[in-house]
Amino acid sequence: MKDLLLVANWKAHKTEDEARLWLEEFNRKIFEAKLDLTNKQILICPPYTLLQLLNAYVVANALEFKIGAQDVSRFVAGAYTGEIPAEIIKKMASYTIIGHSERRQNFGDTDEVLETKVVNADASGLNIVFCVQGDSTPIPETVKIVAYEPISAIGTGNPESPENAEKVAKSIKEKNKNVEKVLYGGSVTADNIKKFTDIPDISGVLVGGASLEASNFFSLIERC
Ligand code: PGA
Repeated sequence: MKDLLLVANWKAHKTEDEARLWLEEFNRKIFEAKLDLTNKQILICPPYTLLQLLNAYVVANALEFKIGAQDVSRFVAGAYTGEIPAEIIKKMASYTIIGHSERRQNFGDTDEVLETKVVNADASGLNIVFCVQGDSTPIPETVKIVAYEPISAIGTGNPESPENAEKVAKSIKEKNKNVEKVLYGGSVTADNIKKFTDIPDISGVLVGGASLEASNFFSLIERC
């Protein structure tokens, strides 16, 4: 069985209370189902405000889940009001997403800016999940994990065909020799996850909408 990285991207959702309930329900379901997570690495990416809470919960309950941020600042610690630099994130998380299309579209994350974010995340020792929208999106050289997320599939209920996802994943690896894992993201659900995780060149999924309810994310993990 190959190793899978299964990422929940909560985007701009959840209060502390909601996050706590999600964690309790998700953890309980895994426990009750005696779900074997040997080859499944779960990575939860909440808003920055919840990183501390999730980290503390995972440590207190000796869970194997990883915690990640959804972005990092392009600046290092300093006079940058409102920014969250990688070295602060590193205290609460071991991963960060970089280059999500929502950041590229709405927050001026150009290829150059993303390059700087990758440098900062690397310098702090954060693992990176770098999102691309196709096989021609530039990928910084140090990146090892890429999430292929076609814009037409994000939040639309209209996922990429597994055949196409396979082609693009292969091509990303061919063009970027340092990339070790390609994930697929875009309208992944419990009903379609296996079609993607069964593809040899796909090493996991990045899930938005279907990760917001603990029961949905659990079903998805159960079915891959
Ligand atoms: P979705 O989002 O699963 O809601 O399509 C995926 C993503 O944007 O990471």
